[in-house]
Amino acid sequence: MTEDSFRRMWSELLPVGRSAASGGYRRFAWNSADAECRAWFEEQARSRGLTYELDRNGNQWAWLGDPQGPGAVVTGSHLDSVPDGGAYDGPLGVVSSFAALDELRSRGAEFDKPLAIVNFGDEEGARFGVACIGSRLTAGVLGREQAYELRDADGVRLPDAMETAGYDPAAIGADDDRLARIGAFVELHVEQGRYLTEEHPVGVASAIWPHGRWRFDFHGEANHAGTTRVEDRRDPMLTYAETVLAARTKAQLAGALATFGKVAVEPNGTNAIASLIRGWLDSRAADEATLEYVVEEIRQAAYERGERDGVRVELTRESYTPVVDFDVPLRDRLAKRLGGVPVLPTGAGHDAGILASVIPTAMLFVRNPSGISHSPAEYAEETDCLTGVTALADVLEDLACE
Ligand code: GLV
Ligand code: MN
Ligand code: MN
Repeated sequence: MTEDSFRRMWSELLPVGRSAASGGYRRFAWNSADAECRAWFEEQARSRGLTYELDRNGNQWAWLGDPQGPGAVVTGSHLDSVPDGGAYDGPLGVVSSFAALDELRSRGAEFDKPLAIVNFGDEEGARFGVACIGSRLTAGVLGREQAYELRDADGVRLPDAMETAGYDPAAIGADDDRLARIGAFVELHVEQGRYLTEEHPVGVASAIWPHGRWRFDFHGEANHAGTTRVEDRRDPMLTYAETVLAARTKAQLAGALATFGKVAVEPNGTNAIASLIRGWLDSRAADEATLEYVVEEIRQAAYERGERDGVRVELTRESYTPVVDFDVPLRDRLAKRLGGVPVLPTGAGHDAGILASVIPTAMLFVRNPSGISHSPAEYAEETDCLTGVTALADVLEDLACE
């Protein structure tokens, strides 16, 4: 029964926003694939007789019980993806939430508290550059004015994209009243490493590494690739390349991570020296001091190389998430209820990490045999996913049926 419900939902979502060419997902904030995912979520809510609600920040909620009641237990995740992302990062949490509710209903569970399933908008930040926009706005970590300034690669502003998709951006901003009514938030997520084993396919999160995104602008001078003497060039590609190598070395030496996964070149012509390169650095470390140190080292390397190349380097921090230590009593309660499952930290960001600064929050991870994520190859065994559903149902029952 739970198995059937999980399978049905999984197969419904599987083709949505999937590129035939890459096999990866392109579900970006407010695009047509995102709209299809949202329609699917609303349908899941309504078909179960849940109260469907869209909040001021475009996050979707499905309520069992009074949405205005106190002490709500909330579960869920996100349905958007990174460019060419996998099927599990996000959707596994949303599908498992509905399946866990189906499981609890079949158990005849009686709820003492309101229960909600949420789909947070734009968790990956693939379109506007800032991750977890829906939960950041709700928690007041991202201000309304900042959000209004965000633009995608085509220059479209976030509020305009929202409006084009049929959503009203006028009210976006902190949602303190909503958060005050939530007693606990539990997000189930596919693991993005290889810590969990066949013996223990479900674990509980302890912490999230601090992480952030920084944009480097390397300003050079456009010129002819075939006629400009080497000594006359101001080629930002050289400064960029040196910075990428420095990022790897500096991070490795400090036991941290630094990745340039996105780059934009202007004018992007084969036979022209670039005038501007934008490179986005994603860096993460076990503690904030190390993270700060690594980014500063990379900045220095970029500036020094820029001087040699005649390239002006500008650095902008686009987003930052401090270290997250999940609520210890809630974490321990989940681990105990699940019979002493592994407790593990992660380097990946999550909406649960954003909400952890304002409400008691916990996470469950489901085994990922290869550890691959943010890739079409991301995968989890169905049996592990179903174990995850049962674990989530057990935890929700413990929290909402006291
Ligand atoms: C989200 O998945 C992130 O860690 O960037
Ligand atoms: Mn992700
Ligand atoms: Mn995710």
